[in-house]
Amino acid sequence: MVFHRPSSIPHPTIWHRFTARGTKLRVQDMTEEQVEPAVQLLVKYFMQDEPPCKYIGIQKYPSAQAHLEKLWRDTIKDKLSIVCVEDKPGSPVIGVNVLTVVSKDDKEEPFQTDDKIWAKLFGAVDCVSRGADIFTHYGVEDYLTAFGLVVDPAWRGCGIGKEILLARKPICKALGIKVTATVFTAAASQAVAQKAGFQDIFTITYEDLAGKGFVFPGIEEDTKHSKLMALVIL
Ligand SMILES: CC(C)(COP(=O)(O)OP(=O)(O)OC[C@H]1O[C@@H](n2cnc3c(N)ncnc32)[C@H](O)[C@@H]1OP(=O)(O)O)[C@@H](O)C(=O)NCCC(=O)NCCS
Repeated sequence: MVFHRPSSIPHPTIWHRFTARGTKLRVQDMTEEQVEPAVQLLVKYFMQDEPPCKYIGIQKYPSAQAHLEKLWRDTIKDKLSIVCVEDKPGSPVIGVNVLTVVSKDDKEEPFQTDDKIWAKLFGAVDCVSRGADIFTHYGVEDYLTAFGLVVDPAWRGCGIGKEILLARKPICKALGIKVTATVFTAAASQAVAQKAGFQDIFTITYEDLAGKGFVFPGIEEDTKHSKLMALVIL
């Protein structure tokens, strides 16, 4: 990754404030102290509820879990990831989005792993992300992307995921980036992204993904498609 957060952007910055269930909340940069609680929220609830993780049963596969956790921890080092907390000091992390910037100049390394479960989980995301070339599609040199969105189940159902996604607008503006694009693997996150203004760029059914070897048994009872979705920052 060649992109570095400009030192002119203070860390942590509070990017977005909103109210949900009568409580004032904010979306801000993930501080050092929030890294562990944020990773633990992802480990506990993303691995349990994100449809590909759920239906492949990642919790039975420690080595695939370790790969996913490492992806999050490595990406968090880019200092672009955000958390949602109550808008007062010392509040617990209730939502996370692990963010990074991909640039046209990044060295393309084909995804490879000996781990059969991780090959399916990340291989599917890699496959969908290649469904369209965001650089060419939008004529941009870089864009903001993500590898994990989660909201604590106790706080789900009140639009927090949408607000977390909306925080990407001021982040992109501060970074001078014109587009954010992400593979949304879940019907719930696709609905949330649509509400935040994201558009479908590439869609593939889980049936077709299974035909390519990315099999998540039973996933279609929850989610029919995996989607690359994008939002242009105006
Ligand atoms: C995705 C997630 C962050 C959304 O949480 P949230 O912001 O609280 O979302 P909400 O519950 O407020 O809204 C979800 C919307 O999706 C809809 N939805 C939920 N499950 C759905 C499904 N299986 N099919 C279609 N729509 C669904 C809901 O009806 C709701 O829309 P509505 O407000 O019009 O009723 C949360 O579900 C989560 O943490 N999931 C586990 C991890 C995950 O899957 N992450 C996304 C990976 S890309």
